[in-house]
Amino acid sequence: MVISLIAAMSENRVIGIQNRLPWHLPADLANFKHITAGKKFIMGRKSYEAEDKLCSDAGNVIITRQKNYHVAPHETTAPGLREAFEKVQKEAEVFILGGAEIFAQSIDIADRLYITLLHNKFIGDAFFPEIDLTIWKISKQRNFRADEENPYDYSFIEYIRKS
Ligand SMILES: NC(=O)c1ccc[n+]([C@@H]2O[C@H](COP(=O)([O-])OP(=O)(O)OC[C@H]3O[C@@H](n4cnc5c(N)ncnc54)[C@H](OP(=O)(O)O)[C@@H]3O)[C@@H](O)[C@H]2O)c1
Repeated sequence: MVISLIAAMSENRVIGIQNRLPWHLPADLANFKHITAGKKFIMGRKSYEAEDKLCSDAGNVIITRQKNYHVAPHETTAPGLREAFEKVQKEAEVFILGGAEIFAQSIDIADRLYITLLHNKFIGDAFFPEIDLTIWKISKQRNFRADEENPYDYSFIEYIRKS
């Protein structure tokens, strides 16, 4: 199973503030939907409770230490990352959606990173971990200018492991 992390972050690695995204970038949402269509998601409990959360029609695993945490009928919980992977082990690829705690715990076992980089600095309280370029290499990058709908310059960057 391919384990992919997908995130949008700023130049100072911010991914969130007060349990929501600090920006509105419709192009990122469209790209996210294109990349993740039909795939199952794994996410932390706080991201699941975010107002602007993204869920998969194919299924979602919510990581929480709480017993009896309530999720929607087509969703499930897991008490840790290992147990979450067991629940999706038949999938060809699974997407880890965050947030900061879950990215920090999963980047070392991920195969691919799909990053939207906003070419701006933001104030935030949740961060994507450092991407170590001795471990990761860029396999694809597309750069875009701000436009009427998307107020910041941004890049879609895909990383794969060097070996
Ligand atoms: N920009 C992006 O791409 C993006 C994507 C997703 C999220 N975000 C942002 O990220 C922020 C949320 O991130 P966060 O770090 O605060 O929270 P999080 O990673 O979404 O969730 C943290 C929660 O996950 C559970 N958890 C974490 N590690 C666990 C483990 N090893 N075993 C069992 N449960 C575990 C705990 O839930 P319990 O407390 O219930 O036990 C913990 O409180 C928000 O601002 C959100 O908007 C941004």
